[in-house]
Amino acid sequence: MAKSNNDAMLDFEVAAEGKAVDTSKKLRIGIIGTGWIAEAHINNYKKMPDVEIVGLADLVPGKAEAFAEKWGVEGAKYYLSHKEMLDDESLKLDGVSVCTYNMTHAECTIYALNKGVNVLLEKPMCVTLEEAVEIRKAEKASGKVLSIGFQPRFDPNMKMLKEVVESGVLGKIYYIQTGGGRRRGIPTPFGTTFIEKETGGLGALGDIGCYSLDMLLNAIGYPKPLSVTGYTSDYFGKDPEYIGYKRCGHPEYHKKFGVDDFAAGFVRLEGDIILDFRIAWAMNIDTPGDAIILGTKGGLRIPSTDCWNGSIGGNLKLYSEVGGEQVITEIPMKKSDVPCFEVKIRSFLDAIKEGGAAPVPSSQIIYNQAILSGIKKSNDLGHEIEIEIPEI
Ligand SMILES: NC(=O)c1ccc[n+]([C@@H]2O[C@H](COP(=O)([O-])OP(=O)(O)OC[C@H]3O[C@@H](n4cnc5c(N)ncnc54)[C@H](O)[C@@H]3O)[C@@H](O)[C@H]2O)c1
Repeated sequence: MAKSNNDAMLDFEVAAEGKAVDTSKKLRIGIIGTGWIAEAHINNYKKMPDVEIVGLADLVPGKAEAFAEKWGVEGAKYYLSHKEMLDDESLKLDGVSVCTYNMTHAECTIYALNKGVNVLLEKPMCVTLEEAVEIRKAEKASGKVLSIGFQPRFDPNMKMLKEVVESGVLGKIYYIQTGGGRRRGIPTPFGTTFIEKETGGLGALGDIGCYSLDMLLNAIGYPKPLSVTGYTSDYFGKDPEYIGYKRCGHPEYHKKFGVDDFAAGFVRLEGDIILDFRIAWAMNIDTPGDAIILGTKGGLRIPSTDCWNGSIGGNLKLYSEVGGEQVITEIPMKKSDVPCFEVKIRSFLDAIKEGGAAPVPSSQIIYNQAILSGIKKSNDLGHEIEIEIPEI
């Protein structure tokens, strides 16, 4: 019988605590896209005694081979695209990590699922809601595991936040505010795949916005988004004087910039809840505010971080009324030494082996994606839009 998400969550804890791993069957894993984040994947796969890396694919000739050499991967086969690798039936792949830039997330994931291969897909899920729907259909038809790479989910503080909300102490939740960003932090030191329209597709929205949405939506049970008024801008990214381009030695990068560096959205969620959101790769303020959750019995302040607000920057503050008095209760941060990325990889492998539920399921993340792409679409159209997500 398939496990519930809660059962799967318990398993992560056990995995993180060093549960013995059954090595009688090695899982045959491939990596699609051997760029920057693939390094975190290989680093963690190499720690897993039940994993054999059998295939590496990248569009850039020689990149997969150089990656294998750097990480001491022996015996893998190399390919120049996801299709080449997935078409090679001799590989007998059990799973792949899709570590490509956002614009090829959907095609790689759908192709892998159609071939009957389990997928760990990097965040954001993809670029458009239409792609997310196609991914969900392929997942359903395949019966395979598809997990989306939101490693902050495994931080004990994220779990604590969810537990606080689930305790009912806030009463009926009617408003949430989330987001964050950086004063100057367009991610160009690693090249231009994040900032070009053809590769990134989404900018700050897809890079860090998806995390800050996940933090609060997961905490309150992922209500369905119904409509959105969105705004995006690119004043910093397109500026020839932007300091970050000079610092990374590429003053011409403003010519390549084709995505958002700031985005904001006002979203109606099922259950009569309003989501107020903003995210920035660059802005002239330190933070646009902490994340907050307002309920009829209590309010919660979740301090922002100065990088992106997908994690918790300090003790939570609970505002409530006791015996007619307005009180503030501080909820201390938990010591967080969980290796979240390792747990993300381990939980994916365990789900493949045990036939469990996806650790971070696409049934939730499609709502996250609907908000990201809805903000962009609403901005392009210049008015509020309805969000329609077909049943899959
Ligand atoms: N979870 C995290 O903490 C985290 C951190 C950074 C990036 N990411 C995500 O990881 C993804 C990749 O980011 P990155 O910084 O590694 O990008 P990158 O540009 O360094 O690497 C992407 C690689 O994918 C390859 N590629 C693209 N399409 C392909 C295809 N069809 N077949 C084979 N190879 C293909 C490219 O040639 C490139 O080498 C992004 O979606 C990003 O949002 C996640």
